[in-house]
Amino acid sequence: MRAYSIVSASILAACASAQSTFEPTDFNVTQALLNKGINVSSIPQLEGLVERSSSTGCSIACSSLQLVFGSNKVLGQQTSAYNSFTNSYWSVQQASVDPYCIFKPSNAAEVSIALLVARLTQCPFAVKSGGHAAFSGASNIAGGITIALEKINEVTLSSDKKTAAIGPGNTWYDVYTRLESQNLAVIGGRVAAIGVGGLTLGGGISFFSNNYGWACDNVVSFEVVTASGIILTASPTSFPDLYWALRGGGNNVGIVTKFNLATIPQGQMWGGGRLHLETEFPAVIQAFYNLGKNSAQDTNAAQILSFAYAQSTKFASADLQYAKPVANAPILAEYMVIPAISDTTRVRTLSDLTVQFNASNPNGLRETYWAVTFKLDKDLTNFIQTVFFDEIAAIANAANIIPAATLQVITTPQLSYMSKKGGNPLGLSTASGPLILLNLNMMWSNIADDTRILKANSNIVKRTVAEAKRRGLYVDYIYMNYASQFQAVIPSYGVANQQKLKKIANIYDPTAVFQELQPGYFKLDGAPDSNMP
Ligand SMILES: Cc1cc2nc3c(=O)[nH]c(=O)nc-3n(C[C@H](O)[C@H](O)[C@H](O)COP(=O)(O)OP(=O)(O)OC[C@H]3O[C@@H](n4cnc5c(N)ncnc54)[C@H](O)[C@@H]3O)c2cc1C
Ligand SMILES: *[C@@H]1O[C@H](CO)[C@@H](O)[C@H](O)[C@H]1NC(C)=O
Ligand SMILES: *[C@@H]1O[C@H](CO)[C@@H](O)[C@H](O)[C@H]1NC(C)=O
Ligand SMILES: *[C@@H]1O[C@H](CO)[C@@H](O)[C@H](O)[C@H]1NC(C)=O
Repeated sequence: MRAYSIVSASILAACASAQSTFEPTDFNVTQALLNKGINVSSIPQLEGLVERSSSTGCSIACSSLQLVFGSNKVLGQQTSAYNSFTNSYWSVQQASVDPYCIFKPSNAAEVSIALLVARLTQCPFAVKSGGHAAFSGASNIAGGITIALEKINEVTLSSDKKTAAIGPGNTWYDVYTRLESQNLAVIGGRVAAIGVGGLTLGGGISFFSNNYGWACDNVVSFEVVTASGIILTASPTSFPDLYWALRGGGNNVGIVTKFNLATIPQGQMWGGGRLHLETEFPAVIQAFYNLGKNSAQDTNAAQILSFAYAQSTKFASADLQYAKPVANAPILAEYMVIPAISDTTRVRTLSDLTVQFNASNPNGLRETYWAVTFKLDKDLTNFIQTVFFDEIAAIANAANIIPAATLQVITTPQLSYMSKKGGNPLGLSTASGPLILLNLNMMWSNIADDTRILKANSNIVKRTVAEAKRRGLYVDYIYMNYASQFQAVIPSYGVANQQKLKKIANIYDPTAVFQELQPGYFKLDGAPDSNMP
């Protein structure tokens, strides 16, 4: 059958064709597809497209992909596979988006073909790894091709076990459970169902980041498909500019098909959550500040502090971790003496801890995430908490709402790893730290409440930023992985880093495919949505 022979030819051609690395000014998409074994003239829909320059690009792109790869890998609308796919997104805002089709490539060569078909037909696309970006269109695209990476899901240890080759189709739970039997782990997410792709490309804060840095700073190399469909390995010695750009540049410079991550020795650890009432807030804030400031004294310890409102009660939830199976680490003693109304801390595996956090982040709700950064300061932490509870009073009656202000410290040890191996584009250094990373996060169920909930989040951001500026504590860095669609992430990396990212994008993607044909998420300029509530 023709479709089959096209596919097998494509694999051979992809291996055989020696292409230039950068896109020439006379780049010919039809020829590039031919080099990958896809003869446009032999696919009726595409042949017609070349003649007609049709406006129905996505219809043609999807039916061509279906002809080449079959209906197992290309899901069309109104099929149960399509519906169960869109329902697999974490937020309802993303699950409500209807792509023209969903393509599930098995390898980098197939990603490359899809990208070239999208260019040929001018059909917009989105890329999905774990699907946990909250806002609409971040990893799903209305009327376009959603490229779902779930079939690219290898977890392969190198022979010396120093690195693990990890496909972006994995969740962190998949990765951790595979490595646990070897007493190994990698620097990745803290909630089971989060994807490897989005988390790593935006930064990636792990339980072990005080010991090793962020996920993006523990990537040994990336296998990446560029805008011209070329498959490259980016590392400190191979395309180092691309390697730099991928360590926090998000989806702007390529589609990553393999992350080679440095492994770390990791057996059982200690961790869990402790819940405190309002009377304990001053003690909790003091403990948060001291642990953040003193992180270098014992980098095995980590913390996530959330202020939240549920059942008409104000809570503080201190999620504490220790990288070793030790229940009474002295550095956590200040936290552990604070009276708690519940406590799930215990010695356990890494994967087990990610499952506990996963349970409090179910699919199927409306979601919003926001990010702000400040210099670490105790009084400002208290101010943030006060403003948060003040603003959520107006939205507390929204159906099924759980509002939270989650605070972490970007510690001096974490910052010290950002300059390793050529550095990253985030614009942070030890000179700027330690920092408070505020993540506002809210889930609710009724679309009619969207406007006032987004407004409350915007108010909290504006009020805390204004106060921090007054006190000289504001830091203009917006963490991509927690940012809302109204925030300009890449510009917050600083003018020099933004310009450098643009220069690199222009080398590997001179026609701005990843800016224009892949419009979702944080682009090199501005915010995804300029209408800040
Ligand atoms: C419950 C929850 C827990 C979280 N915990 C943490 C945490 O512990 N630490 C932390 O740092 N962050 C955390 N986050 C934030 C998280 O890192 C981001 O939401 C991230 O975008 C999720 O990645 P994903 O692959 O699941 O998302 P997706 O929505 O699939 O992807 C996000 C973006 O990345 C792009 N992308 C994904 N894969 C690729 C690829 N291979 N190549 C090119 N582009 C790609 C997508 O196109 C999309 O634009 C958490 C978020 C949630 C909702
Ligand atoms: C692009 O390549 C195809 C296939 O080789 C060729 O038929 C076509 O003429 C080329 N187009 C241009 C503009 O060069
Ligand atoms: C492409 O397909 C057309 C139509 O089937 C055929 O005439 C042509 O020779 C093919 N080109 C190549 C390079 O295989
Ligand atoms: C994580 O939560 C999601 C959504 O509730 C669920 O579908 C998934 O099975 C959970 N994963 C693990 C490993 O617990």
